[in-house]
Amino acid sequence: MTDPLFDLSGRVAVVTGGMGQLGRVYAAGLAERGMRVASFDIAVETAPDGVRAYEVDITDRAAIEQATHEIEGEWGVPHVLINNAGLDSPPDAPVEEVGPFENYPEAAFDAVMDVNVKGTLLCCQVIGGAMARESRGSIINVSSVYGLLSPVQDLYAFRHERGETFVKPVAYSVSKSAILNLTRYLATYWAKAGVRVNTLTLAGVENDQPAVFVEAYAQRVPMGRMLDASEALGAVVFLASDASSYVTGSNVVVDGGWSAW
Ligand SMILES: NC(=O)c1ccc[n+]([C@@H]2O[C@H](COP(=O)([O-])OP(=O)(O)OC[C@H]3O[C@@H](n4cnc5c(N)ncnc54)[C@H](O)[C@@H]3O)[C@@H](O)[C@H]2O)c1
Repeated sequence: MTDPLFDLSGRVAVVTGGMGQLGRVYAAGLAERGMRVASFDIAVETAPDGVRAYEVDITDRAAIEQATHEIEGEWGVPHVLINNAGLDSPPDAPVEEVGPFENYPEAAFDAVMDVNVKGTLLCCQVIGGAMARESRGSIINVSSVYGLLSPVQDLYAFRHERGETFVKPVAYSVSKSAILNLTRYLATYWAKAGVRVNTLTLAGVENDQPAVFVEAYAQRVPMGRMLDASEALGAVVFLASDASSYVTGSNVVVDGGWSAW
């Protein structure tokens, strides 16, 4: 029996960054629950079963509009939008990008803000706007504990011990905290139009990081471990479905207690 509170079958979802580690979990999990799911990603890879992949750069409004138009023609206006695509500095980022704050490059700041903030804003404009015209919809904007609180720089001490310079860069934190208030802004803007907008805040996801990092991270988390990607899905199903019909402008924190300390 499907619990009507959590029933998503027959509805339409767009997951940005649907080819990434977490995006695949959301896209596959929603498709398994009977949703028609589209991924908007610059990466062109094999999509999970039941997921349609669109090559869309979320910093390009015309590309978002075109893909959304195609989806609307075939499936109708999306019911759910997960703004999940995001950029962080990769481990092999140029040294200036992971060096001292004082010299953090403007170009790196612009690139991260462009995808994480402007890309989210553009998807909300195009898809959220269409949802508002239908008087229904749920938008989930993905943030991070590093957008709620400062990164703990000590977690990266192992890199100094290896003789590397590493400062967790500032742009990711700034961009992810912007998500919290973009969410509140839109939640109130669209509250009477029936579009709910919430933030999903996650702690670090285990993904083959060096064991020394995983151990240091685990010690910083009350639950004593990193997040398993599959554990982010429950909050997504809750926020996407009618189970959260009176929840808007909120921040659902899935962090093993990270922010409780
Ligand atoms: N992994 C973590 O530890 C963690 C923790 C907290 C929050 N988050 C957040 O979760 C989200 C997903 O993270 P992930 O770890 O799965 O990342 P990921 O790098 O595995 O996936 C991100 C996806 O976004 C896509 N993307 C990048 N730029 C794009 C653009 N301009 N247009 C369209 N797609 C683009 C990438 O191609 C990739 O498939 C991000 O917003 C991230 O900040 C992740």
